[in-house]
Amino acid sequence: MTLAHVVEPRCADAHPALPAVTSARLTVPLVDGRRVPYANLDHAASAPCLEAVQDAVNELLPWYASVHRGAGFASRVSTRVYEQARDTLRAFVGAHRGDTVVFTRNTTDALNLLARCLPRGTSVVLFDTEHHAALLPWRGPNVRRIPTPERPGDAVVALEDALRGCPTGPRLVVITGASNVTGEVWPVTRLAEVARRHGARIALDAAQLAPHRPVDARALDVDYVALSGHKLYAPFGAGALVGRADWLQAAEPYLSGGGATRQVVDWGDRLGVSWSAVPERHEAGSPNVVGVHALAVACETLDRHGWEPIMTHERLLLDRLRTGLATVPGYTGLSLFGPDNDRVSVASFTVTGQDPGRLAAVLSAEHGIGVRDGLFCAHIATRRLLDRAGSTQQRALRASLGLGSTVEHVDRLVAALRSVVADGAGWNYRLIDGRWTPDPDPRPLPPFLTAG
Ligand code: ALA
Repeated sequence: MTLAHVVEPRCADAHPALPAVTSARLTVPLVDGRRVPYANLDHAASAPCLEAVQDAVNELLPWYASVHRGAGFASRVSTRVYEQARDTLRAFVGAHRGDTVVFTRNTTDALNLLARCLPRGTSVVLFDTEHHAALLPWRGPNVRRIPTPERPGDAVVALEDALRGCPTGPRLVVITGASNVTGEVWPVTRLAEVARRHGARIALDAAQLAPHRPVDARALDVDYVALSGHKLYAPFGAGALVGRADWLQAAEPYLSGGGATRQVVDWGDRLGVSWSAVPERHEAGSPNVVGVHALAVACETLDRHGWEPIMTHERLLLDRLRTGLATVPGYTGLSLFGPDNDRVSVASFTVTGQDPGRLAAVLSAEHGIGVRDGLFCAHIATRRLLDRAGSTQQRALRASLGLGSTVEHVDRLVAALRSVVADGAGWNYRLIDGRWTPDPDPRPLPPFLTAG
């Protein structure tokens, strides 16, 4: 089944100077029967695929075979692809000498892996603004959650206080590079400097930072970097944890199974297992070589292209978005550290009198715009920011930009919001299973979903 009916043939992107994404010519149906180019303003949830990644995956697929398990030539090729990707990831995040690269499914998986590998009694310090992937994996009495600070400087002071109160023993500070709710960039270097003074290691959740800015673990002085391929234009199910090997090496394997073992023997009453060293120790099961290759190619493509044009593109679009949103009557932007703080191209907001879920449905059904609504897998942070903004709403709307975004997408969003505020929606909507849905919804699904 081909997707040619929904994706027009490749042609120059609106930004020929930037790496192209496969969905640049995707069109979507509206409830009035028209089709329009899709305005994907939801990069923070999942970014579209780079064309370079699609090409690389297509090139690899005939060679796809078992990794670390086969003598066949295709297996050797697949194993080489997989192992080379570790070097690419090391370079992409500026890893320290000797750092290991464990491939995971995504950032959530990477941070859960790290949480499982902490030495007994490790104190973990984090801010309660973290999204759930970085907020929830840490368990036990030695986890300290610092309340949402109001300024970057407050965060630094609060971290210092929290670390001062930690018992002796291993310490880990978990820091987010950029908020998935507001896009605001955290003062990672300053926080890392405090952590170091208190003998703590630092884990950087780079899920939202890495797609927008270069990440350099050595320059930032962090010990671990976690990221996701699906936010990095490589939606094939791979992510990574890059960092110091010792805790990972000393821990029980994350999963038990083939690939993580050197030898298994039957001792009668039990099995004797000799586990592999890292990184294989934490990669039981057949590795996702296609996903890992996709991730590595995305990293190489972004690095090779250079970050300046990408950052400029996103900064211009973000400025235009924020200026436009400010003209929408009833608009309230969410912010951690205030409007002037450095941020990547993410903006969350509410519009007085408009349910965010319903508004998101209207944007999709009547304007072909994809945004996310809700609490963005960061319930505590988003609720707190809504409170802080004086909003009476329980949820918010988020627009997030990236390589697939254009001026037209931004302008369409702003115009659509202004039109809904001024004239209301042009269709009926109702709640079905907790989600606002057009009623009726005549939009045809693509044939590959309905055939057969
Ligand atoms: N963290 C992801 C998002 O922000 C799920 O949408």
